[in-house]
Amino acid sequence: MDKLILKEQVEIIRQAFGYITQFKGCLFVIKIESTLIEHPLFPLLIRDVVLLHRMGINVILVPGARVRIDQVLDTYHIKCTTVDGVRISPPEAIPLIKMAAFDVSNKIITMLAESGAHGVIGNWVRAKGIGVRGGIDFQSTGLVEKVQVDVLRKVVLDGLIPIIPTIGWSATGKPYNCSSNEIAFAVSVEMNASKLFFIVDRLGIMAGNYKIPEDVYLTSDGVVSQLKTAQAGAFLDLNGGKNYDEQLDLVGHAYRACTSGVQRVHVVDGRVEGMILKEIFSNRGFGTMIYADRHDNIRPMVLADIPEVLRVMRPAVEEGALVPRSEEDLEERLADYAVYEVDGTVHACAALHVFPDRQGEIAGIVVDETYTNLGIGRRMVSYFIEEAAVKKLRALFVLTTQTSDWFSQLGFVPGKVTDLPAERQKNYNLQRKSLILRYKISGRRKGGVQVE
Ligand SMILES: CC(C)(COP(=O)(O)OP(=O)(O)OC[C@H]1O[C@@H](n2cnc3c(N)ncnc32)[C@H](O)[C@@H]1OP(=O)(O)O)[C@@H](O)C(=O)NCCC(=O)NCCS
Repeated sequence: MDKLILKEQVEIIRQAFGYITQFKGCLFVIKIESTLIEHPLFPLLIRDVVLLHRMGINVILVPGARVRIDQVLDTYHIKCTTVDGVRISPPEAIPLIKMAAFDVSNKIITMLAESGAHGVIGNWVRAKGIGVRGGIDFQSTGLVEKVQVDVLRKVVLDGLIPIIPTIGWSATGKPYNCSSNEIAFAVSVEMNASKLFFIVDRLGIMAGNYKIPEDVYLTSDGVVSQLKTAQAGAFLDLNGGKNYDEQLDLVGHAYRACTSGVQRVHVVDGRVEGMILKEIFSNRGFGTMIYADRHDNIRPMVLADIPEVLRVMRPAVEEGALVPRSEEDLEERLADYAVYEVDGTVHACAALHVFPDRQGEIAGIVVDETYTNLGIGRRMVSYFIEEAAVKKLRALFVLTTQTSDWFSQLGFVPGKVTDLPAERQKNYNLQRKSLILRYKISGRRKGGVQVE
């Protein structure tokens, strides 16, 4: 074999192994465009999804059903109007719409079975009617009210692949026709997914006649290759005011997902074999990736956050993992604190106290109990490491009784009391027997802060 080809293949395998380890146990929500369901390569797409699942990646599928619903309604000569891309679903059409949506889900179940995987279709989406808007009654067309996260999580943990049809039910069991994009978005946010995929029938988000923010890169095919959350927001602002538009709808959902905790949203072409695998397991993305900056949800604490911060801290204080702090303590050192906030709720906080000898202490780091193990703590530390570099500190340290292993994983190394700033040595509580861990700051280089 040509040495170059061999080298390239080995490199791909290495990259793939790296990503497999990274994504094991993570959750991906995959929305599939309805036009792809009849595509000749669709069975291969489902086979690739099964491969992901076998590698230990949890998967939830949300198949679009628009094309199948159109076919079924046509067969029964039922005409529906569409307003801003939303189908107005008369109640008498709902049995047929349900049938079409479940038909698509059943088709996928069969394909999963052919690849040896187990899928399950369920009613995990609670919906409510859109109601009357601008004088138009949307009848049985609904909006996602909530996702039944506990039940869905059990299904995922049982090793099954949930398939969510485009139907939601009210608390009293009334079915509504919902948007599959909205369902995928809501499920990804509420289930804390690592990635949300929109598998579409084009190359990605196409630049076309849209106004593109200045710093956004386009491929030679005219695909918007990446958008940071803020750029996605700018893209929406620049092109807003238009009537309903499929691409803006996708970017809008991606933007909201990234500002609600989902790290990455990929818009990928489902007509090309293996595209989803290429997107996940190689360094080179092919479609459009909309992604949250590592520090997107982190901001300085303000006075109004203090009650929330005290709430987040309470369990750790009760367990003795954190030194108690009063409202006045937090107020006094307000400027040192940062919070991790999503949609107005604080999920984590931490402080960086700076000492005259150019050392900084990371203190009071805590993540809301229901949001642990999502990488938020790591992002808070990384935020302060960057802060420390900007402030030209020479080292960070932390005093901890229960989290030394965690800080070690982040590159912190054991230190001595004499390493601490003089003022902190005086206050060092011998009885608490906290371990001292340090992190040297070596200045800013391309790609972030380096550990010495
Ligand atoms: C410690 C804490 C801040 C970590 O935040 P987090 O957002 O859950 O952490 P991340 O998601 O970045 O990292 C999770 C990983 O760290 C591991 N981890 C969490 N707490 C740990 C601990 N005390 N010791 C060792 N490892 C720990 C998790 O098992 C997980 O491992 P995995 O990636 O192999 O699955 C959070 O658990 C917390 O608030 N604890 C209570 C308060 C506390 O002890 N603060 C420290 C005061 S010094």
